[in-house]
Amino acid sequence: MARSLVRLGALFAFLFLIWIISYTFEPRKTAYSCRTFWYCIGVSDRHGYAHPLPSTLSLESEVTLRDGTVRYRRATQDANPELLFLALIQGWQSWSSDFRSTQRTANDFMDLLASTKLDLTKAALAIMTASADEYERTMKATARLPFARTDVYLREDEDLGVKYEDRHDPRVQLARRANLALLRNYLMLRGLQDEQHIIWLDADVVELSENIIQTMISHSESNRDVGIITAICHQNEMANYDKNAWKIGDTPELLRPVADGDRDSASAELVATRLMLPELINGTDDSALVAIDSVGGTLLYVRAELVRKGVSFPPFNIVGTSWSQAGWIGVETEGICYIAKALRSGGCYVLGGKHHVRHIDWG
Ligand SMILES: *[C@@H]1O[C@H](CO)[C@@H](O)[C@H](O)[C@H]1NC(C)=O
Repeated sequence: MARSLVRLGALFAFLFLIWIISYTFEPRKTAYSCRTFWYCIGVSDRHGYAHPLPSTLSLESEVTLRDGTVRYRRATQDANPELLFLALIQGWQSWSSDFRSTQRTANDFMDLLASTKLDLTKAALAIMTASADEYERTMKATARLPFARTDVYLREDEDLGVKYEDRHDPRVQLARRANLALLRNYLMLRGLQDEQHIIWLDADVVELSENIIQTMISHSESNRDVGIITAICHQNEMANYDKNAWKIGDTPELLRPVADGDRDSASAELVATRLMLPELINGTDDSALVAIDSVGGTLLYVRAELVRKGVSFPPFNIVGTSWSQAGWIGVETEGICYIAKALRSGGCYVLGGKHHVRHIDWG
């Protein structure tokens, strides 16, 4: 009796082990994630693609561009996308790992894009990496979804010059963000064709609230003032992860020219008095838009028309720039609203209500 119980127990343990192994190493190589119990045992939504797959043929090409960048392109014959997704990754580490999950991959990023419930036959995707291995993997992962056009760019010599662990060190932040701005501008200008809407998405964002992209697009289409939109970004343990999105507080002195000797104190005052997103969207509903002065890049909508007019991510602190020196704030995403503001349809906003994105917990 006892022996047969032991055998039964062993059998169950064996089957459980097989199940865990097959689940963890499933062919699609998604990250093994136990964010919720149901997700962990595989019965909750795993973000299948909701629209019919097209029957049109895709053409593939690989070219080396004049600057040495390699571009893989897969495009349907009648490709005419309205929306362009953009993402930058250094290498495999850039996909990160989530709360209680193994290393994420390009496949998890595809899951995230499928979770938007958008018809991806009307979307294009452009991703740039510095890793030849990740270039290959991303090329394969993107084939799972029916994008109208997929570009994967490889710039092997490109190095952010910063170890992943050091990337929040203030001493290296300015140089890192200046370089990031150049890479963003490069990818945005290379990737953009006839699309109307651009969506930047960070590789370590793991969750988007329902219909968030659709809401951004509808705000842009129904309101001529709206050019750039972001959403609040949180982690499991932190309500406001993206400290680059803010509105200038009640500090008129920061709107005027800042004397050379006062730059450090102006930066400090801005940081101390700026209004952050949790406060700004408090009490608003899902259809609200709240004006802001600076955005981050975790999820960022940009009206493509602005880019065609020259709006870009400044690779230096643009606010307060003179002929002799760069300014005191406004590098990369923190400067794009400053540029766009001068143009029609250049207003910067954050989505109100419950719209949000979730960033991985580490980093
Ligand atoms: C939101 O507003 C309520 C009521 O005014 C207040 O009690 C709460 O502290 C606010 N929360 C944030 C994050 O500002």
